[in-house]
Amino acid sequence: MSDPRLSRRGLLAGGAATAVGALAGCAPGQAVPPVAPQAAAPAASPVSGGSAKEPFDGIHQAGIATAPQTYGVFVGLDLLPEVGREALGRMMRLLTDDARRLTQGRPALADTEPELAVLPARLTVTFGFGPGFFTAAGLTGRRPEAAAPLPAFAIDRLRKEWSGGDLLLQICADDALTLAHALRMVVKDARSFAKVRWTQRGFRRGAHTHPAGMTQRNVMGQLDGTVNPAPGTPEFDRAVWVSEGPEWMRGGTTLVLRRIRAEMETWDAVDRVAKEFTVGRRLDNGAPLTGRDEHDPADFEKLNAIGFPVISDEAHIRRAHVADPTLRIFRRVYNYDEGLTPDGHADSGLLFASYQADVSRQFVPIQRRLAEADLLNEWTTPIGSAVFAIPPGCSPNGWIGDTLLT
Ligand code: HEM
Repeated sequence: MSDPRLSRRGLLAGGAATAVGALAGCAPGQAVPPVAPQAAAPAASPVSGGSAKEPFDGIHQAGIATAPQTYGVFVGLDLLPEVGREALGRMMRLLTDDARRLTQGRPALADTEPELAVLPARLTVTFGFGPGFFTAAGLTGRRPEAAAPLPAFAIDRLRKEWSGGDLLLQICADDALTLAHALRMVVKDARSFAKVRWTQRGFRRGAHTHPAGMTQRNVMGQLDGTVNPAPGTPEFDRAVWVSEGPEWMRGGTTLVLRRIRAEMETWDAVDRVAKEFTVGRRLDNGAPLTGRDEHDPADFEKLNAIGFPVISDEAHIRRAHVADPTLRIFRRVYNYDEGLTPDGHADSGLLFASYQADVSRQFVPIQRRLAEADLLNEWTTPIGSAVFAIPPGCSPNGWIGDTLLT
């Protein structure tokens, strides 16, 4: 055969093996030689947003408290049957190395398009472990309660192709090409160990078109994210990061990812008054129906002239409200829009990503109240659901999952 370095098949198949070899300190042999980062420097300087980096190493994984990037992709993978604890350790070392490099604007080992790595655009790569990860590792005893499937809710119309998964990759960036490259590099290395079960792509208002710190709108036109713990506050830390229970999860969190279809055709048929009544907030500036400005606290006691609550008993914000800030969830939501039916109808909705220290004490009671009675249920349908333990971050010499697997 011709020089394997030039063989397309060798390149395609070689990524994982090359990177594993290099990580284990072996000579890469016939594999693709790593490209020096400087060789990948672009001809023109990037605009500042393109070179912006989010730190990878730390107590917590990036991609949660990080100001949401414009694009996000969530990938659920199923581990291959033969993958056990030792292989999981190898996989997580390898994927951590990819993530550490790519998020800092450096090509992954054996990166086949190293030029694409030089604009990190606030790239983050976040890993999560589903129930099957613990079974494969032979560590079901250390599986946190959080990494168990959710109870069934009456509103659910869940589809297998959007639900479950042993391993989660959450990749976010302000640039779609950066994201596509990072996704391909990480998944390429993961595929010796796991198969892709689902891929869910989302977007938010662009970081370059929308002032930072301003609440974004979702595909239904609502300001979405007003009442949410603010990263960097003690309330956020208490609500989101695990601080009790198994030692290995301290500094981690849990993710509930729900794919919720927005029934846009019937939503279009509703007038503004009804849309605002459904949520309990105004569409123009997001103010509660009892206030003037977006951040005015909602007054759930206020009655109208004929003695009914201004914010209905079944309004979304009343049903979802949690008085105790430590029991709130942190919503870091992406929109999705997957093209059109032949009739021109949209397939869109929310990738509802909820992070919390404790799924059963925080997420489940809210979701139960919404499932029982929420006017919004008429126009939203959960079609996918997955839960992952998000392990803590790691030190510069460590790897994600090292607290569990070593
Ligand atoms: C497609 C589905 C959904 C849409 C379109 C939606 C939309 C909204 C909107 C417009 C608000 C008011 C602004 C804000 O505070 O962000 C809100 C608030 C909220 N939503 Fe949702 N939501 C959806 C699903 C859910 C789900 C599944 C949950 C949790 C299980 C949830 C939990 C919350 C919470 C906790 C609040 C803040 C309530 C408060 O004022 O204290 N939402 N949502």
